[in-house]
Amino acid sequence: MKNVLFIAVMALLFHCKQSTENLTPEEKFKAEGRSLFVANCIACHSANPDQDGSVGPSLRASSFDLLKEKLINGKYPDGYKGKRPISGSMPKFAFTDEQIRSIEAFLK
Ligand code: HEC
Repeated sequence: MKNVLFIAVMALLFHCKQSTENLTPEEKFKAEGRSLFVANCIACHSANPDQDGSVGPSLRASSFDLLKEKLINGKYPDGYKGKRPISGSMPKFAFTDEQIRSIEAFLK
């Protein structure tokens, strides 16, 4: 019985730790960006934006314009020299501006 209680308390603590209820709106927004990033990008880019990934380069401080142009159109914005030439291996993503802003916030 004691064990059951212990597990229940641990599960509750874990849940609270995972929950985003106590975050500021900005932290929540970043957390959304992080989720999108983890779900869609880290197969190629590193989960640590400061490091190169298995296929794609480091993404720390990528601007909204760069993210939008690369994700939506598969290109670099005019005048931006990419870290790598476009290889065609990165897919396009139909994200909203809001979603792209959240990824930008996470990569800041
Ligand atoms: C299938 C592998 C793959 C996935 C998945 C992927 N990328 Fe990439 N990404 C690349 C590669 C490779 C490059 C290097 C340029 C090229 O080949 O297009 C790149 C380049 C970039 C660049 C340009 C960086 C710079 O400054 O030159 C950005 C920004 C970027 N990726 C963002 C993302 C984001 C955000 C996601 C997830 C939503 C993502 N990528 C998912 C492979 C990938």
